[in-house]
Formats: sequence, structure tokens, C-alpha cells
Amino acid sequence: MDKLVIKGGRKLSGSVNASGSKNSSLPIIAATLLTGNGTFTLHNIPDLRDITTFTQLLNHLGAETTFADNTLRVSSNHVQSLQAPYELVKKMRASIYVLGPLLARFGHARVSLPGGCAFGPRPIDLHLMAMEKLGATITIETGFIDATAKEGKLRGAHIDFPVSSVGATGNALMAAALAEGTTTLSNAAAEPEIVTLCKFLIAMGVPIRGTGTTELEIDGVPSLAGIEFDNVFDRIEVGTLLAAAAITGGEITINRVEPQQMKTVLKKFTEAGCTITTTDNSITLKSPEKLLATDVTAKPYPAFPTDMQAQWIALMTQAEGISHITDKVYHERFNHIPELNRLGAHIEIRKNQALVHGQQPLSGTTVMSTDLRASASLVIAGLVAQGTTEVLRVYHLDRGYEKIEQKLQSLGADISREKYNEF
Ligand code: EPZ
Repeated sequence: MDKLVIKGGRKLSGSVNASGSKNSSLPIIAATLLTGNGTFTLHNIPDLRDITTFTQLLNHLGAETTFADNTLRVSSNHVQSLQAPYELVKKMRASIYVLGPLLARFGHARVSLPGGCAFGPRPIDLHLMAMEKLGATITIETGFIDATAKEGKLRGAHIDFPVSSVGATGNALMAAALAEGTTTLSNAAAEPEIVTLCKFLIAMGVPIRGTGTTELEIDGVPSLAGIEFDNVFDRIEVGTLLAAAAITGGEITINRVEPQQMKTVLKKFTEAGCTITTTDNSITLKSPEKLLATDVTAKPYPAFPTDMQAQWIALMTQAEGISHITDKVYHERFNHIPELNRLGAHIEIRKNQALVHGQQPLSGTTVMSTDLRASASLVIAGLVAQGTTEVLRVYHLDRGYEKIEQKLQSLGADISREKYNEF
């Protein structure tokens, strides 16, 4: 297995390019399943473990894929299997994204139930509710979701989501694209990753109204064709790198971004004392003399993202004062806290809130990654901890951060990847 070895204490400086977004790549790759007509050329797809896993799933279904230089070519012309097996789904919950497009195109799909998750319950009831509203009959047996469209065709419907869900909105959008008639989605997710999916579907020829809002209207079309598309930047990677710079007292610029998509996060960095300057496609962060305790509450977009909560907690360990970090999306997403405390942080958990007592000196030790963003928070803490921090089980980090150690090295961090035997 791989571990990251970090010698803390170096200020980050310089500039890097943002990678393409993992969480928007997955639904647009799934959306290629909507058509048997033509090839897709998807640019700015990050080279990540989750992307490899997802393309393996598409290959299993019969799609042909090639990936080079961050461009993924997909042809779903010869898809013949409609079953997503447990062996692949268990590796990545986002596999549920194949449900909507398969069901819409073929009238049938079988997807293994995803199983547990490292940070609390992650139900899929809203995905199933959306498919049922569109006219699917769903049964769950032997660990599989079995979905069949009545008379082989989904029909447009009104779907009102009781909870804002990125995944269920994505699945509903893809299913509605080929449904007969118009579908309306209320309380839809408005995350930039959903906006990207809407743009992708629109480019494929699906009329969608309300992109970027929580009310979406989709006119189903009889058939679709392959397109060329540029994926959006990864706002969570960018937020993570900014937090890494801020904790070291550094100054960095990140290029190839759209700063307006990160308003809330950038405002929080400003509240914490950082100076943020932006251009149309870059963000520069200059650290303050002293970071200030800054509360955040993770909620659906445009609020602060849950995927930045762990990194923010790491940052706040060095801020002056006590900060309150609340997660209203995943109430139990706090696996990083015991590990941050092992580095010397003083963080308490109160229900879905973390109380971070700032300005605690951190000292390097061996810590364990438990999930993607938890690992990112440990790397951030390691950059400021005295001595050497070893972050084990880096495969979690590799799911979502492209060339993370190279990027941090280029900004001046002392970080390297080494092999180790866990047992
Ligand atoms: C997406 O997961 C992201 N994953 C997650 O990123 C992210 O944390 C999450 O959205 C929230 O922003 C991908 O895009 C691949 P949700 P998703 O459905 O779609 C509840 C990362 O680190 N809910 O928006 O699975 C759910 O429990 C990750 O990159 C239901 O109740 O999340 C949660 O409280 C991990 N029933 C809330 O909705 C459902 O059927 C939002 O979850 C579905 C969700």
C-alpha cells in the first residue's frame, strides 16, 4: 500500500492548475449510456481511481472506452448488459448513476445495492422514488435493485425531492432526458456538478429549463447522439489546495478555475483573514499573519460544501479562537477528528457539530485515512505539524485528488509517496 510522508513547516507558494471535477465526471460518463448513436469525447477528466472504477463499470456493461491525457472517449453503442454487479458497485456508490440512463434507454436495469459508507448512512430511496415517479416498477431482491419501465418506456412526471440530493437529481435528469413528455424537478440539487450535467444533456439535444436553480424542467427526446464536451474544474480540489496554503501561511494561485462557483468558500477564507483575489479563471490566496476562527455550516449549494468540511476543520486547528463546524448534509462525517486529535488538535464532537479549539501546535505522527476528504484534512494538518506525518491508506485520497503530491511538491511542500506493508 502507499503512504504519504510529509515533513511539516514549509510555506506553500507558487501556482498550479486545477484538475477536472471528479463529481461531475461521473454523471456525464454515466450519461453516455443514454445513446447507442456515436462517440463521446470528454476533455478535462481527472486521472483518478474513481474514474477508472467507473469506466470499468461501463466496460462491463459493454461500452468501449479509451483514456489518455485527461480525455476520455466513450462509445456506448454496443451496451448489452444491463446489470451493475456488486464487485464494482461496492467500490463506488456513484455506480448508482447508471440506473437512470440504462432504465431510460433500455426500459430495464439491475444495479447492486451499494452497501455501507465510511461516514454514516447514505440511502438511495430518493433515486428509487424518482424512477418510480417516471413510471418504473422497482423491486429489491438478492441485493439488487431491479427496475423496469412500464411498457418499456419512462414517462415525464413531477418529482418533488424532500431532501436536496446531487445523485438523485442527476439520475432523474438522465432518466427524464429520454422519457416521453416533460419532467419537472422541485428542490433539485443546484451544485455546479449538476449544472455541468445539465449543460452536457443540453449539448446532447435535451431541452432543459432552470439550469442552476432548484426547479428544473426537462423535455424528453426520442433519441440522442454523442458529443464532445469540456468538463468543469474541481472546486473541492481547489478549496483543499487553498486550505493547504492557508495553514502554512503561504501564498498560492490556482489557475483554470471559475471563481464564481466558489463564492461561499472564498468568503469563508476571507473571514478567516486570508486575502483572496480572483480573475476570470484564477484564484490567489495570501495568508494572514494570524488565521481567525471561522464557523461554517455545510449544506447544499450554494452553501459551504460538506466535501470541504474536513479540510476546514484541519485549517481551524491553527486559527485564533474556537470555531464551530456543522455538517447538515452528513451528520456523522467526522472520522477525521480522532486522527487530527492524534496530531495534537483539540476538537470536540457535539452531535453534527465539531468544536475546534484553535492554535494547538500539531506534531507529526502516523495517521490513518478513512475516506477521501478525511485523508485530505490529514495531509493539510501534516503540512503544518512539526516533524514527520505519515498518512496511511492513501488509496482513499487517490480516489479524488489527481497528482496531489506532485501538486503540493510544486508548491514547495516536503511530501513524498512510499510503499508500506500494513500488516
Ligand atoms: C454527492 O454524493 C457527492 N458524490 C459527494 O461527494 C457529496 O458529499 C454529496 O453529493 C453531497 O454534496 C458524488 O458526486 C459522486 P446526496 P451523493 O445524494 O449524491 C441524503 C466526495 O467526497 N439522501 O447529495 O450521494 C443523503 O443521506 C463525496 O467527493 C437521501 O436521504 O449525495 C445526504 O444527507 C462523498 N436519500 C443528502 O441526501 C437518497 O436517496 C445529500 O446526499 C439520497 C441522498
